[in-house]
Amino acid sequence: MTHPIISQINGLKDISSVTKVLEDNNIPFLSEGTTRTVYDLGDGTVLKLVIDPSFVSQNWSEIKIFKCSGREFFAEIYEHDKRNLWLVMEKLDTDKSKILSNLAEMFEPAIVVNGIERSIRSVENFVHYCVYRLTEVLQAAKTTEAADWARGFSAIVKTCKISEEDLHDNNVGIRPSTNTIVFLDYADYNLLSMEESVSPPPTLSSLIYGNH
Ligand SMILES: Nc1ncnc2c1ncn2[C@@H]1O[C@H](COP(=O)(O)OP(=O)(O)O)[C@@H](O)[C@H]1O
Ligand SMILES: [Mg+2]
Repeated sequence: MTHPIISQINGLKDISSVTKVLEDNNIPFLSEGTTRTVYDLGDGTVLKLVIDPSFVSQNWSEIKIFKCSGREFFAEIYEHDKRNLWLVMEKLDTDKSKILSNLAEMFEPAIVVNGIERSIRSVENFVHYCVYRLTEVLQAAKTTEAADWARGFSAIVKTCKISEEDLHDNNVGIRPSTNTIVFLDYADYNLLSMEESVSPPPTLSSLIYGNH
């Protein structure tokens, strides 16, 4: 299932060479964030290419989180280059109205915190309360499946130390096959909490001069 473009970009050492191959092959730009440009490979996957070599640790930490935590709450990563300049990830549906209707199917529109109604009809609010007010969110769950999902979601955000600033609606999407909400940008990870067996991200000099 590897996209044919991968064999052409594999091993390319700098971002501009990768970009040129993508452009020459008319691979469409999808979107961009603060550290990565995202291309639509058209086969249900996206390619995330760092904007600058200093951002490879973003890709690296995302790969490590995925390997440690699996695909239930994180978009699947299929492959990446040796230097983590790019990775290939499952494409999610980022239509905001679908994300919100998904939440609406599972949860009541608001929770009650200290006698005050707080809306959970936004991804930011929902994720925030899932982490800090799980008991109230569980009370707002419409089904036991929704409650189980909220418990799992809350736990994974904590275990993976997803930062508060990454918990917004641009960083989640819907997995079409299961119609569930998963993270598509989960790179902000506390690297110090990694297991010892995990090797450190490549240094800038190894990217420029190679590992040898
Ligand atoms: N797996 C994906 N499926 C669909 N769209 C994506 C995916 N990954 C990223 N995007 C789109 O690209 C944008 C930037 O990607 P992101 O991973 O957030 O980059 P950054 O880490 O630089 O913020 C996202 O806000 C989203 O719109
Ligand atoms: Mg982002």
